[in-house]
Amino acid sequence: MPECHSTNTLAVELSQHRSVIEGAVVITHNQYQGKGQRGNQWVSAPGKNLTLSLILKPSFLRADQQFRLNQVISLAISDYSKEKTEKVVKIKWPNDVLINDRKVCGILIENSISGETIQNAIIGIGFNINQTEFESTKATSLKLVEGHDYDLQTELQNLLQCVEIRYLQLREGKIETLEADYMSNLYRIGEQHKFKISNGELSGKIVGIDQRGRLIVKTDAGEQHFDLKEISFADY
Ligand code: BTN
Repeated sequence: MPECHSTNTLAVELSQHRSVIEGAVVITHNQYQGKGQRGNQWVSAPGKNLTLSLILKPSFLRADQQFRLNQVISLAISDYSKEKTEKVVKIKWPNDVLINDRKVCGILIENSISGETIQNAIIGIGFNINQTEFESTKATSLKLVEGHDYDLQTELQNLLQCVEIRYLQLREGKIETLEADYMSNLYRIGEQHKFKISNGELSGKIVGIDQRGRLIVKTDAGEQHFDLKEISFADY
């Protein structure tokens, strides 16, 4: 689309038509009402970045395995980023991708469930490519880290190839590989940090992710499991 409000919203509508096949992509040069996680907006300068939504039909996943999708997509984006830069690439749980501690890509996954399984998954990806000015000091782009412009069409192909490889690993049941790769790319794993939680602050180390995709933090009081809205880094 030359422009659209949100590729995710459009892809959700499209995915309800039977003729739409798995792998269809909705992409725009100008997304003017982009949706982010936790009800935030996703703002992207027109013509500068990748803003797209991929339609998947992972009917092999049970509804309680939704986190697997976050895992494979963030890994794929991290794979792609590592092809583009030698700088440090990490996945900030659950699925932000950072280069040198700054966010280069946000992912918003919207699933529709039918019975026990996932019928349609809309994989929204906002990857900062050629934009160089951001409101947030925590944002970055490939151009900011590497110093040159990129061709968006080429980058789209490269990125989607990385997604396909990881998605096929999931479909083939290569869970151990995916788990190990996700953990080895996880931001601040095993380091002592302060976290904000609903009733205050705690200090601890990220030690893993549980089956439901919750973050496991080890504190003096033992291991605690947190959902997305329940925890964030105190200094990020
Ligand atoms: C986040 O908050 O980090 C998630 C951002 C997701 C943004 C992408 S851009 C393409 C797709 N369409 C949307 O409206 N949002 C996602």
